[in-house]
Amino acid sequence: MAVQLGDLAPDFVAQTTEGPIRFYDWAGESWIVLFSHPKNFTPVCTTELGAVAKLKPEFERRNVKVIGLSVDPIDDHHRWAEDIRETQGAALNFPLIADQDRTVSSLYGMVHPNASDTLTVRSVFVIDPNKRVRLTLTYPASTGRNFAEILRTVDSLQLTDSHSVATPADWQQGADVIIAPSVSDEEAKARFPKGWHALKPYLRVTPQPGS
Ligand code: BEZ
Repeated sequence: MAVQLGDLAPDFVAQTTEGPIRFYDWAGESWIVLFSHPKNFTPVCTTELGAVAKLKPEFERRNVKVIGLSVDPIDDHHRWAEDIRETQGAALNFPLIADQDRTVSSLYGMVHPNASDTLTVRSVFVIDPNKRVRLTLTYPASTGRNFAEILRTVDSLQLTDSHSVATPADWQQGADVIIAPSVSDEEAKARFPKGWHALKPYLRVTPQPGS
């Protein structure tokens, strides 16, 4: 069965461009973004890995480690890293798993046979420091991902973990949030001293806590 939200992320041992890892040991106390791409030496994947390399400081600021995966061999990964450095204005600065025997892609359900029997789709798993899967995304091979959106979802997860709020459509860091329906008005008075605007009893908008 596919890995679902709230599941314990499967642990694994893998060969990466930064040497062999045991996933849980490598992850430590960090949040993790594990993402697969279909194939080395392909255009969209090349741009994606460059984009993630450029955003690495943004991931680090949020205590997130990133790790990519494809089913190609490790030597190809190293050769491809040269192309990424040459064409994307950023060198690969995070590990890329060489999942040639498909151990990791099988554990995480990254091969979708009706899309391709052999290649991984563009999966994303956001995993918290307790190793729980908190968010999944699946894109087809032809559509490159928006990694600013992945940072935004991490911001939302981290904020909503520490306050009784949810984030509305298209929310960005610093914008108003929604008081969780499980919080009574009485409780909300104590938790949200700046007050709130109730558009409906179930839709209470308040400034982002801590901003
Ligand atoms: C790409 O990364 O450009 C790509 C990979 C596999 C299929 C189609 C496009």
